[in-house]
Amino acid sequence: AETKTPLSNFDTGVYVEDSYANTAKNLDVVRKTLNRPLTLAEKVVYGHLIDPTTKVTRGQTYLKVQPDRVAMQDATAQMAVLQFISAGLPKTAVPSTIHCDHLIAAQFGAAEDLEVANEENEEVFNFLASAGKKYGIGFWKPGSGIIHQIVLENYAFPGGLMIGTDSHTVNAGGLGIVAVGVGGADAVDVMAGLPWEIKAPKIIGVKLTGKLSNWASPKDVILKVAGILTVKGGTGAIVEYFGDGVDSMSCTGMATICNMGAEIGATTSIFPYNARMADYLKATERESLANVADTFKEHLKADENAVYDQIIEINLSELEPHINGPFTPDLAHPLSEFAEAVKKNEWPEELTVGLIGSCTNSSYEDMSRAASIVREAQSHGLKVKSLFNITPGSEQVRATIARDGIIDTFEKAGGTVLANACGPCIGQWRRDDVPKGTKNSIITSFNRNFTSRNDGNPATHAFVASPDIVTAMSIAGSITFNPNVDTLKGTDGSDFKLSAPTGEELPNRGFDPGMDTYQKPADDPDSITVAVAPDSNRLQLLAPFKPWDGKDYDDLTILLKAKGKCTTDHISMAGPWLKYRGHLENISNNMLIGAINAENDKANEVKNQTTGVFGAVPDTARDYKAKGIRWIVLGDENYGEGSSREHAALEPRYLGGVAVIVKSFARIHETNLKKQGMLPLTFANPSDYDLINPEDKVSIVGLTTFTPGVPLTMKVKKPTGEELDVTVNHTFNDDQIAWFKAGSALNKIKSDRGM
Ligand code: F3S
Repeated sequence: AETKTPLSNFDTGVYVEDSYANTAKNLDVVRKTLNRPLTLAEKVVYGHLIDPTTKVTRGQTYLKVQPDRVAMQDATAQMAVLQFISAGLPKTAVPSTIHCDHLIAAQFGAAEDLEVANEENEEVFNFLASAGKKYGIGFWKPGSGIIHQIVLENYAFPGGLMIGTDSHTVNAGGLGIVAVGVGGADAVDVMAGLPWEIKAPKIIGVKLTGKLSNWASPKDVILKVAGILTVKGGTGAIVEYFGDGVDSMSCTGMATICNMGAEIGATTSIFPYNARMADYLKATERESLANVADTFKEHLKADENAVYDQIIEINLSELEPHINGPFTPDLAHPLSEFAEAVKKNEWPEELTVGLIGSCTNSSYEDMSRAASIVREAQSHGLKVKSLFNITPGSEQVRATIARDGIIDTFEKAGGTVLANACGPCIGQWRRDDVPKGTKNSIITSFNRNFTSRNDGNPATHAFVASPDIVTAMSIAGSITFNPNVDTLKGTDGSDFKLSAPTGEELPNRGFDPGMDTYQKPADDPDSITVAVAPDSNRLQLLAPFKPWDGKDYDDLTILLKAKGKCTTDHISMAGPWLKYRGHLENISNNMLIGAINAENDKANEVKNQTTGVFGAVPDTARDYKAKGIRWIVLGDENYGEGSSREHAALEPRYLGGVAVIVKSFARIHETNLKKQGMLPLTFANPSDYDLINPEDKVSIVGLTTFTPGVPLTMKVKKPTGEELDVTVNHTFNDDQIAWFKAGSALNKIKSDRGM
C-alpha cells in the first residue's frame, strides 16, 4: 500500500500529499481566472480557497480558506477552548494544539519559576490539558517551550496554511508556510469546521541579494526592513522574500525574520522552500516531509515575473547589524551610528540587562553563536558585565545546548538560563535589579520593545538587536560598545577585539529532545471530564446564548451612547483583567468601562434609566439583565478598532445587549458581534447619531424579513412621546443571518450537526 506523510509526527489521518494535491487542483482553477504569474504567498493562500473560482483582487476580495491547522497559547486558548466546548462537537475539525508558555513568569531561573507557575496556574493548565485530551487537541505542557518554536520544530510545513492565537504565529513563515496570528473567534470557527475568512492580502516583495558576513545576522534583515516600512507599513500585506540571498540564511534565521514581520503590522511573512528548510526538516525528524516538498517545489516559490505591490531590495553583503529602539521596534540604527545616537538622545549608556532567546531568536544557531562570543571573552578572563538572561525557545533547544556545554558556558560567564517560556518578553519578569521608575537601558533579541512591555517600568529603555550584539554589549556592559571597532580589556591588562561570531546552524550530534513534555489526545475521549470547578474565579463553562425569539426588538433601552474613539480596549480592557480571560462572568465587569459617555463626557458612568441613578456601565447592564430589559449601545466612527479580542463581543451579549448601532465599525469586531448573535448596525445617515439620546427607547423593525442588503428601521421614541424613524444598514449575509436566528454562530453549527 502507498504510504503517505502525516502533516506532523503527532498527527494521524491528515497528510501533506493531500494538502498539496488540493493546492495544485485549486491553483489550476485560479490560474485560469487570474491569468497572470503568482507570487508564493498567493499560491499558498489561493491554494487553500474553499471556492477556487473566486475572482481575487488583492486588498479587496474577502477570501474563504481552509487552514491546515490551528495553534493556541495558554492565555488566548482559554476562551477559544471554552467556546469550542460550548459548540458540543466531539473533536476539532482540523489538527490543533495548545502551548503553555505565556503564563510562566521569570524570576529565579528555569526550575523554580516553572514550579511557581504550575502552582499559580494549576487550574488553567489542568483545564487546558483535560480539554486537549477530550477534544483531540495536542497539549504542550508548561516547560515544553514557546508556541512558535514548538510549531517550527514540529508542525510548520512548506506550502501549508495555519492560524494561531498569537501575533507571532508568523514565525513559521521561515519554513515556507503562511501562518497568521488571529483572535480566538477565528480559531473557534476553524476548529468547529467553518472556513476562515481573510481579505486577500497585498504582497510586499523583499529581494535579498549577496550574503551576510561579519557581525550581521538574519535579525538585522528584519530590523532594517522595520526601519524602512515602519510599524504600520506591512498592514494588510504579506511580506514575501526572494532572491539569491535567501539561500545564505538558515531556516531558523528565516523564521526570525518572519517573526518580527508582526512588528511592521504584516499579515505574515514567507520564504520560498529551499535546501536550508529541507536540512531543518531532516534535523527535526521530518525527512519524509522534506521529500514530499521536493516533489512540489514549483508551487513553493514565486512564478517568474510575479508582480508585487511594492518591492524592497536589500544587499546582505552590505548589511550592518542594527539596533532598534527605544520604545518602538521601527526606530532603526545601524551599529556604526548607534553610539552617537545614544549620546545625542541621552539614553542611559550603561547596560543593565542583556536578554537573548525568546520565540524570535532562540535557535541552536543563535545560541551557539552567542556562546562563541562568550568563550572568546572568557579566554581573556572576562565575564558578562551586565546581567545576562537566556530564554531557550523549546525544551529541545534547552536540552541540546545543555548537552553541548553551551549552557555551562553562559552560566560560567555569569548568565542565567530562564524557563523555556515567554517570561520577560511579555512582561512576565519579576525584575528586582532596578527599582520601578529608574531610567535604565536593556537590550534584547526579542521582537517588541514598547514602553513597559518587558519589565513594567516605563523608564526602561528597551532596545532590540541580534543575540550576537546583545551578547557583545552584555560583556562590555554598555550599549555604546561596537564590536567592529571597540576593544575590551582582558584580565591580563591587554586590549583585544571580539572576533565575529561563529556557530553551527544545526547541532552536529543531532537534537536532544529533552524531557517529554507533550500530552497526546486520549484514545477514549468519552471517559475524560473537562476540569472546571464551579466556584472557580478564572474559568467558567459557557452556556449557549438564547436563539432569536422571532419578533422585532421592541422598546430597547440605551445602555450607553459612546462618544469618540471606542476600541476593543475601551470595550474589554486588558491589564489586570487578563487573568479572567476564561471567566466570562468575571471579565464582564470590565465591559465598556473605557468608553466615553456622550451624556457627561465621563468613562464608566451612565444613568440607569429605571432608577435615574448614575453608575458603572457593567453594574447598570447587570441591573437591566436582572430586570429582563434588553439594551443597545450607540457608538461613533470605527467602533471596535484595535484587536480581534472576542471578549469585546461576548461580554455585551452575555450581559443582555442585543444591538450595537454606530456610525461605522472596525470589520473584525463587527463580525465578532455577528458570531455572538448580536446585531451590529450602522446609521444610513451618520448624523442621525445626534438625534438619539440615552433616555430614548428604541425598536428595531424588519427582523422578521431580515434579508442581506435590505436596511432595517430603528424606531426611536422620545420621553416626550415624539417618534422618529432612522434607517440602519447591516452587512449580514445569509449565513450570518442564520447565526443571528440561532443565537450565535456556534449554536448554528450545533443545530446543523443535529445536536
Ligand atoms: Fe512569547 Fe514573546 Fe514570543 S511573549 S510568543 S516570546 S513574542
